[in-house]
Amino acid sequence: MTSSTTTRPRIILDCDPGHDDAVAIVVAAHRCDIVGITTVAGNAPLERTAYNARVMRHILDLDVPVVSGAAGPLVVPPAFAGYVHGESGLDGADLPEPTRPLDGTDAVGFIIDTVRADPGCHLVVTGPMTNIALALRMAPDLGDHIAGISFMGGGTFGNRTAMAEFNLWADPHAAAIVVGSGLPLIMAGLDVTHRFQATPERIERVRAIDGRLAAVLSGLFDFFSANYRSRHDDMAGAAVHDPLAVLAITDPALFTMRDRFVDVMTEGHHTRGMTIVDQRTLVDRPAPNCTVLDDVDAEAAWSITIDAIRAGSRPE
Ligand code: BDR
Ligand code: CA
Repeated sequence: MTSSTTTRPRIILDCDPGHDDAVAIVVAAHRCDIVGITTVAGNAPLERTAYNARVMRHILDLDVPVVSGAAGPLVVPPAFAGYVHGESGLDGADLPEPTRPLDGTDAVGFIIDTVRADPGCHLVVTGPMTNIALALRMAPDLGDHIAGISFMGGGTFGNRTAMAEFNLWADPHAAAIVVGSGLPLIMAGLDVTHRFQATPERIERVRAIDGRLAAVLSGLFDFFSANYRSRHDDMAGAAVHDPLAVLAITDPALFTMRDRFVDVMTEGHHTRGMTIVDQRTLVDRPAPNCTVLDDVDAEAAWSITIDAIRAGSRPE
């Protein structure tokens, strides 16, 4: 990745909100210049992820385009994650009705045109990688115009299956295109995101903030964390995956990371969407193609999240 700056990086956030995508939007609004938000089917169907992105734009009073994209994966059938995020994708809070309409339905064209016109931004990807894979296919020059791709997905264990994380499982062929692209990549996989949990104490810090954003987010965190706790026997709260793909760019000092060779499996009952992370120390190993986040200073990352929520909270 070309940037580990203390200035505000420019990003396009490609997402499928989703509780943790919503938090990623909040953190990005605080720490980045968001050039656009593009949406993809993933946690919920496309209409709903696009609606939820508009909700977050509305709450944050952001003046950025929201453009919807792919309604389904490249090859495999669509599958959503209502069992994690509820049928709305953002269950757990009373959401305001957004007033500004979608700015378009061609996320792939938006990404290509935007980075060609104004090079140097980062693509931050927190859902299935369908839009990005399609953009790479349509515009082989895309990599010449971006600083890199920071994505949430993968890991050395799975959550959708024993070996596959949801985003990569949901569109493994797209993930294989992106991970195999040769572009600068940062991977926030489950190994690091499971170390960033919305514990009850951390949620109380959100609830203590005045304003609509904090009220909405504390409801979202309550739902998300109760769901995680009920589905795992070892988690104190939800893994707040997606903001780490933003923080990897804005605050790299929060992380330990290593450059690795990563590949994506596209087939197999257990292996579809699995990332192969080559951790061998053999001298004769494949050259790294990805910076893999290993660990995060979770307290510091949560403090930045709190600052972002405070910054985005207007009195009700
Ligand atoms: C990823 O899947 C989704 O449920 C979350 O939003 C996150 O992007 C975690 O596996
Ligand atoms: Ca997501």
